[in-house]
Amino acid sequence: MPANIIDGKAIAAKIREQMAERVRTRVAAGKQAPGLAVILIGENPASQVYVRNKENACKEVGIISTSHRLPTETSEEALLKLINELNSDDSIHGILVQAPLPDHINFEKVVETIIPEKDVDGFHPYNIGRLAVRMPMLRSCTPYGVMKLLEFSNIDAKGKHAVVVGASNHVGRPVGLELLLAGATVTTCHRFTSDLADHVARADILVVAVGKPGIVKGEWVKPGATVIDIGINRTADGKLTGDVDFEAAAERAAYITPVPGGVGPMTVAMLLHNTLEAANDHS
Ligand code: GUN
Repeated sequence: MPANIIDGKAIAAKIREQMAERVRTRVAAGKQAPGLAVILIGENPASQVYVRNKENACKEVGIISTSHRLPTETSEEALLKLINELNSDDSIHGILVQAPLPDHINFEKVVETIIPEKDVDGFHPYNIGRLAVRMPMLRSCTPYGVMKLLEFSNIDAKGKHAVVVGASNHVGRPVGLELLLAGATVTTCHRFTSDLADHVARADILVVAVGKPGIVKGEWVKPGATVIDIGINRTADGKLTGDVDFEAAAERAAYITPVPGGVGPMTVAMLLHNTLEAANDHS
C-alpha cells in the first residue's frame, strides 16, 4: 500500500496560526512584539528567496523582522560588530544570519558571536550542547521541525530504531540528538559509513539530510517505515527533489514527506516559534 504523505505545508500552517495567536496574547498583555533581525550577505538567489519567505512569515504572525542586506564584500569584522550591536538591542529577540556566507567569513565564528539567548536558528554550540544534555533551550529549526512532523502525525519515536543519514553540524547531528531525546535508538550514517543500505533497511524512522538526490534508494526502505527527507536539490530541469528516491520509497513506507512541501515549511515555522520563545524568555 502506498505511504501516507506527511503534509508539512499544512502542519506548518497550523503552527504559524498558533504562533500568531500567542503573539497576539503577548502583545495584548502589554509586551513588545517579538523582534527578529535577519542578516543577508551578498546576492545568492536561493538565500534571497529563503529570507523573503522568513520575513513574510514573520509579518503574518506579528513578529517584527528587521532586515540587514549587506554587500558580498562586507568584512567579517563589520558583521561581528553588527551582531554585537543586535546582541545588546532590547527590541531584538532573535538574530539570524542566512547561510551560506561568502568564503572570507567564518560562519561558525558568526554563530558563536550571537548570544545563545538570541540564537533562533539553534546553531550555537551552547544550544546544541543543551539539547545533548536533555535540557533543550533554543532548538535547531529543521531538526525541531522534523520532531513536530512526527508529533502531528502521531508517530512516537520512543523505542524505535531511527537512522539519520548525514552528520552535518546544523542538521544531521541535532536531528540525531532530538531523536535520542525522544527515546529512539539512533544510528547516524555519514560519508565514511560503508554499508549504508544495510543501516537504512533497519530504520523504523529514516531521516535523510545529505543534499544528494537519490542517495537513498526506495528499495532499501523497511516496509512500514517513516521516511523524512530533508534534502532539497534542484534538478537539471529546475524542479525541486529530495535525497530519497520518492516513488519507490513511497511503495514501502507507511509515512513519507514529499519535497517540496515536507520538511521545508517546518524550518520557517520553527524559526517563528523560537523567536517567540526567545522573546518570552526575555520579558
Ligand atoms: N541557509 C539554509 N537554511 C538555513 C537556515 O535554516 N538558517 C540559516 N541561518 N541559514 C540557512
